[in-house]
Amino acid sequence: MKSDQIRKKYLDFFEKKQHKIIPSSSLVPQDDPSVLFNTAGMQQLTPYLLGQKHPKGKKLANIQKCLRTNDIEEVGDKSHLTFFEMVGHWSLGDYFKEEEIPLMYEFLTSKDGLNLSKDRLYFTIFEGDKNAPEDKEALEIWKKIVPENRVYSLNAEENFWSAGDSGPCGRDSEYFYDTTEKGLGNLSKEEFLIHCEKLDIIEICNSVFMEYEKKDGKIIKNLKEKNVDFGGGFERWCILKQNVESVYETDLFNYFIKILEENSDKNYLIQNKAYRIICDHMRASVFLISDGVLPSNKDQGYILRKLLRRSLLYLKNINFNLEKMDVLLFSVVDKYKEFYPNLEEKKDLIYSEISKEFQKFEKTLHSGMKKFEEIVDVTKKNNNVCKIDWGVFNTLDCCNEVCGKDAYDLFTVYGLPLEIIKDEAHRRGVGVDEKNFNKLIEIHKESSRISSDVKFKGGLGGDSPKIRAFHTTTHLLLAGLRKILGEHVHQAGSNITEERSRFDFTHDEKVQREVLDEVENYVNSAIENNIKIYSEVMEKEEAKKQGVEGSFWEKYPDKVSVYVMKDDLGNIYSRELCGGPHVENSAEISQFGKFKIKKEESSSAGVRRVKCIFV
Ligand code: ALA
Repeated sequence: MKSDQIRKKYLDFFEKKQHKIIPSSSLVPQDDPSVLFNTAGMQQLTPYLLGQKHPKGKKLANIQKCLRTNDIEEVGDKSHLTFFEMVGHWSLGDYFKEEEIPLMYEFLTSKDGLNLSKDRLYFTIFEGDKNAPEDKEALEIWKKIVPENRVYSLNAEENFWSAGDSGPCGRDSEYFYDTTEKGLGNLSKEEFLIHCEKLDIIEICNSVFMEYEKKDGKIIKNLKEKNVDFGGGFERWCILKQNVESVYETDLFNYFIKILEENSDKNYLIQNKAYRIICDHMRASVFLISDGVLPSNKDQGYILRKLLRRSLLYLKNINFNLEKMDVLLFSVVDKYKEFYPNLEEKKDLIYSEISKEFQKFEKTLHSGMKKFEEIVDVTKKNNNVCKIDWGVFNTLDCCNEVCGKDAYDLFTVYGLPLEIIKDEAHRRGVGVDEKNFNKLIEIHKESSRISSDVKFKGGLGGDSPKIRAFHTTTHLLLAGLRKILGEHVHQAGSNITEERSRFDFTHDEKVQREVLDEVENYVNSAIENNIKIYSEVMEKEEAKKQGVEGSFWEKYPDKVSVYVMKDDLGNIYSRELCGGPHVENSAEISQFGKFKIKKEESSSAGVRRVKCIFV
């Protein structure tokens, strides 16, 4: 069954069941500045799930464009995507689980619906915890339809759904499908979970029975009405109905892969990961631009920029003929325009924005590749033995390879992904020391995690470009304060929102305005001097010895990740234990204006507080 047919089947089925079909909303939520993208079909319906009357009535259905970026680095495997379509329907205070469960079962198994084999379906319900009781009603309903041993009770992580810490939420029932060739038949709960883990069995959709409201992670009350919020992964349905291995082999992408193959010198089978990343990222970019997002260093535009830059790296990697970019992009427009007509209207803009962004990125890439060539030359000249002595690793580990530390720098400082580094290195006849690269990434991640736990518990109000910029200036601010007031100054707290950063530090008297001006100048001069921001892994003892700033050293492992800010002349502005999201260069800060310390006051005994903004 083709993707268009699946969409039509679903919408026809629910229309026949008296649901009104509503359009997909834009990928960018219109009334909710707290989130960058629509990540679920229910997002546009939040006020109605909370009790407001929907103009179209109580039963609705649609297919919603969604974008999730938390797994962006995982894209390239069989299943992860950024952009996807979510199939949805809702009952706003109309029917509840007694009707929803049989209705969905009918859709999944009947000829009017997906016509899936009943023997391959499994279901789950919520097992109950201190927040909400076991969903016995759902279990009873299921028992009337399917054998009891096909229904498993799982915990809140699996079967309690909410869009975030606050909002409508509820217990849910999930629907699973066995994709193995022979079929697995009846399974114990343990066996079921093992097969889910192996992706033999995949979740295909879920019905959330929304009856509670959450605030800051806690259920605070029952909703006015009992609602149903159903969501299904459209791409997964296409995989099942087209009997293919992954979404990339469905008709949602196969035409696109064909164009890539026809215009590059590596095929999909050989460069599978690169192809998949290009497919996902380019499709997401086309949809983002059609919804009004343009590449920038801010918010949605920053994500688009990242998707496009990664796409370009991989397009180069498979040697795609970039002159054929129009053919490639317009194929996505043609594939989807019937269902999403604004793609056709924005066709020219999509092409011109993507071309412009590619040209810009070519320039940055140029310096990354220059550095890469230098590294490869040194590697070859030194008979490929890594000479960098930084104590942690056995230098022989790096033999015949670009050493892990260099690969790590290329990744963190120049944004070159490991796959690209590896391919380019192989092309020049050298390998890459992945083992140490991965070790460094792990140390970096672990250090960041501990550091955020230590310093930013509840202190970072998100991960937008502005918050990242504020966070980066916080490091500079601390370095400036220590330089001017003395080494007794340490961070005592930090809280960052879109509007301002608040920073507490140890010092026991009022800081005069002239001193604040000096600190402010320190921060601004770092920004003006085009600092680069990157992380370096060091032995903990060595870091301490070199005066790296940090608190709670005892919480860190022996190797730590240090966050360095350095200008082109080699002047170091800040070296601190790494934590939280940060920008990569000054331009990402200066776009918000100049850094200003607006207010200084006492916070508690021996601790002062400053509030800072960009002006
Ligand atoms: N809101 C539910 C989900 O996104 C249906 O999975």
